[in-house]
Amino acid sequence: MPSLLTLTATVALSGALVHASFDNNLAYRSPSNRHPTLGVSLSHVSKRHVQAGSSLFTPAEVNFTHGVASGDPYADSVILWTRLSPFPGTVASDIVPEGVVPIYDHEEGAPPSDKAACVEYRVATDEGLTQVVDQGRAYTTSDVDYTVKFEATNLQPFTTYYYQFHVCDSSKTSPVGRTKTIPARDQHVDRNINLAVYSCSNFPEGYFTAYRQPALKDSVDYILHLGDYIYEYKPSSSLPNRNPSPTDHETYTLSDYRARLGAYRTDPDLLLSHARFPWIPVWDDHEVADNSWRNGSTDSDGQVFRDRKKAAVRGYFEWMPIRQVAMDDSLRVWRGFALGTLMDVVMLDTRQYDRDVTVIGGIGGVVGGNSGQLEEEVGWANRTLMGFTQEKWFYDQLRESSARGAAWRVVGNQVVFSRLTLGVLGSEQPFNRDQWDGYLANRDRVYQALEEGRINNTVMLSGDSHAAWVSDLAWLGKRDYDETTGDGAFGVELAGTAVTSSGFVPSWTPKFVANALSKRLIDKNPELQWQELYYRGYFEMSVGYDAIVAKFWGISNIKKQNGEEVLLAEFLIRNGENRLARNPTVGGGKAKAGALKNGKIE
Ligand SMILES: *[C@@H]1O[C@H](CO)[C@@H](O)[C@H](O)[C@H]1NC(C)=O
Ligand SMILES: *[C@@H]1O[C@H](CO)[C@@H](O)[C@H](O)[C@H]1NC(C)=O
Ligand SMILES: *[C@@H]1O[C@H](CO)[C@@H](O)[C@H](O)[C@H]1NC(C)=O
Ligand SMILES: *[C@@H]1O[C@H](CO)[C@@H](O)[C@H](O)[C@H]1NC(C)=O
Repeated sequence: MPSLLTLTATVALSGALVHASFDNNLAYRSPSNRHPTLGVSLSHVSKRHVQAGSSLFTPAEVNFTHGVASGDPYADSVILWTRLSPFPGTVASDIVPEGVVPIYDHEEGAPPSDKAACVEYRVATDEGLTQVVDQGRAYTTSDVDYTVKFEATNLQPFTTYYYQFHVCDSSKTSPVGRTKTIPARDQHVDRNINLAVYSCSNFPEGYFTAYRQPALKDSVDYILHLGDYIYEYKPSSSLPNRNPSPTDHETYTLSDYRARLGAYRTDPDLLLSHARFPWIPVWDDHEVADNSWRNGSTDSDGQVFRDRKKAAVRGYFEWMPIRQVAMDDSLRVWRGFALGTLMDVVMLDTRQYDRDVTVIGGIGGVVGGNSGQLEEEVGWANRTLMGFTQEKWFYDQLRESSARGAAWRVVGNQVVFSRLTLGVLGSEQPFNRDQWDGYLANRDRVYQALEEGRINNTVMLSGDSHAAWVSDLAWLGKRDYDETTGDGAFGVELAGTAVTSSGFVPSWTPKFVANALSKRLIDKNPELQWQELYYRGYFEMSVGYDAIVAKFWGISNIKKQNGEEVLLAEFLIRNGENRLARNPTVGGGKAKAGALKNGKIE
């Protein structure tokens, strides 16, 4: 078995000089190498492995069990991800060698193993990986759960690439992944860019057909995930083999979060999507804990919550193909992507970064809990959903995007933005203070930024609610809005349903009952143009300079693998209109489910 000391030396390969190092593996910066309490001390790792002359896993001792993934594409680079799974079982808690004493002080997961794995990536312009344009090597160890993250560089804008990992100096290879860079900032994009948008993928509740469909159709360029990629709950599934580790408790520790992420990352539909498309994900609450906010969640607060959040954040950065965009801000996942002059994609974190207290405790957040206190506080001017640092950044992004002449501002956000009421007893009281409806001043400041900047073509994307809500962005109570023509709106909100999570109505609710409730919702909410509760699924957006077309897909049966999809509704947003197009009414006047303003359900 070769020792790391010999392998740290330069190895000549394919005519190129390829060094392996710990540094090349960005997973050691999870989330940030400027924050040793959140990341991994590389001096400890290298002391343990290199100075002790510890050995490497042989190719037979590791597998690429969790496939490959790419994400956070830039015009000239992209993040590549894989994991070298050392033993069957493949989760950190299974790989604790007997008698190993942890030597780093922030230990929460498995004690470190004394072996490292060496992995190499190659990026090529062809699927057979003969035209190699970038390659590199790195080590991975138990410190980062054997995850590997590389930044592939020197790539061309808006170009498709293929990539593969292999165990160094062996023929043991990963599956081949495909990825794509984004157009250069000032590039005119000569065709539509297509996106698939997801949220709320609860593994125990169903199969991930929604992830599979765009891969089968090869219908999109990039994937946006708005959060709730995993759920922290103790699983109890009615489906076979749908209880992800840890199976007997809610996730709290680093090894819990790693095991949960690892279990999700065995789903074949999810692996397919990761292997075919670059992802741009952000988290919502369940990547940490239910209804989390800055300092707590439904069932944890104080030091327990702080430890839990630290563990969850670290696991997320290890397992997701994302960048650390601000090295001095370990909690930051809000970030932006300039896709040529066509659009800026702005991904927000309305959940973990700096949110003021949300609905916690009580029944459905309505009876008991802190709802009384919240009703007093919702209107406070100093209340924020995003945190003031992120708010400032967001308004600057909107202004800069508009000033640079990008045609569209596509804003990925977790919770539903528009005001939503059930209109009980003629009251306009919102029913979910965990959404923007609980952070009124923050929402007003967003509208104010749009108005003052005269910013056009903003499309807000939302998840979290397990239902679909398509609205004009109407500043209700502050500015006139005509629900028939859309005049007075500031843009459009496209809020998608869950991949699998049930919620707004119980999953056994008959379709006609769900549709009747949708009808009530569109009647009581002027800006809400289409609403749908019955289906789980996802939506796709085709973005061109003249218009965006959004298609909402429902999965016919999530309790079955390889289910079918149904086109539920389709919407047009024309450049410059700042509202849903009336063609002749919203959604072309028809949808397959839910309720559509001035339209029919057929
Ligand atoms: C790797 O996968 C193969 C085929 O599934 C299996 O036989 C082998 O035990 C696995 N090895 C490890 C180390 O997990
Ligand atoms: C809330 O969290 C912030 C950091 O996110 C911390 O500085 C502060 O002390 C916490 N407040 C309480 C009351 O725990
Ligand atoms: C926020 O505003 C409310 C109402 O004006 C005030 O009572 C409260 O003390 C303020 N909180 C902070 C942290 O400034
Ligand atoms: C938005 O559109 C309006 C109407 O066409 C125009 O007057 C305004 O200048 C646009 N805003 C920007 C920032 O270009």
